[in-house]
Amino acid sequence: MPELILPTDRLARSFAEAVREFIAEGRGGPDDGSLLGDLIQRFGPPDDPSVWITGVLEMERMLTEDPPASFVPSTTHWWVDGDTWLGRINIRHRLNEYLRDIGGHIGYDVRPSARRRGHATAMLAAALPVAASYGIEKALITCDADNTASRKVIEANGGVLEDRRGDKLRFWVPTAPGAD
Ligand SMILES: CC(C)(COP(=O)(O)OP(=O)(O)OC[C@H]1O[C@@H](n2cnc3c(N)ncnc32)[C@H](O)[C@@H]1OP(=O)(O)O)[C@@H](O)C(=O)NCCC(=O)NCCS
Repeated sequence: MPELILPTDRLARSFAEAVREFIAEGRGGPDDGSLLGDLIQRFGPPDDPSVWITGVLEMERMLTEDPPASFVPSTTHWWVDGDTWLGRINIRHRLNEYLRDIGGHIGYDVRPSARRRGHATAMLAAALPVAASYGIEKALITCDADNTASRKVIEANGGVLEDRRGDKLRFWVPTAPGAD
């Protein structure tokens, strides 16, 4: 059974394979403003996973404990099955103006070779209690209006559409079962 864990060098090799898949689908280019894109832009292709993972783990630590001025603290969890890295989900501990408008509380990626097997839906379900533990009662989750897969992931987890702002759909997702 897959599970959420904190980033660890134990999965350096599998995560590096996944990052090569993301790069092959175009992630990490100049237009990729996501955290995963930033990670690829900073550290490049993971030619030597054991060296590369050190920078990755330091970046994740910094995002939680000592984020840049325009960032709120956030924590990334990995979705893994044994030694296989499947995906990542980043939970922002609170919203700032940008996140309330566009970014939301939670962002996620599933590696290309593991898609369409329900992982994103299950990963978000597993992450909602973690968000609740940060004091988030309803998580704002946004997706591009044409991102059908992400929209389905959000709606399968109880997301209620608030509005569309530009290209983004904005949903509120209760983090505790039975909450509305
Ligand atoms: C969006 C993403 C996380 C979905 O991951 P996934 O593990 O494939 O999602 P799931 O398997 O849980 O699928 C959820 C639903 O979307 C559907 N779906 C998945 N990929 C799809 C696609 N490319 N086109 C249309 N529907 C798709 C699935 O069939 C499923 O539908 P169902 O609930 O009716 O069965 C993944 O495609 C991804 O990482 N994309 C790039 C990053 C991204 O867009 N992140 C989200 C930012 S908001």
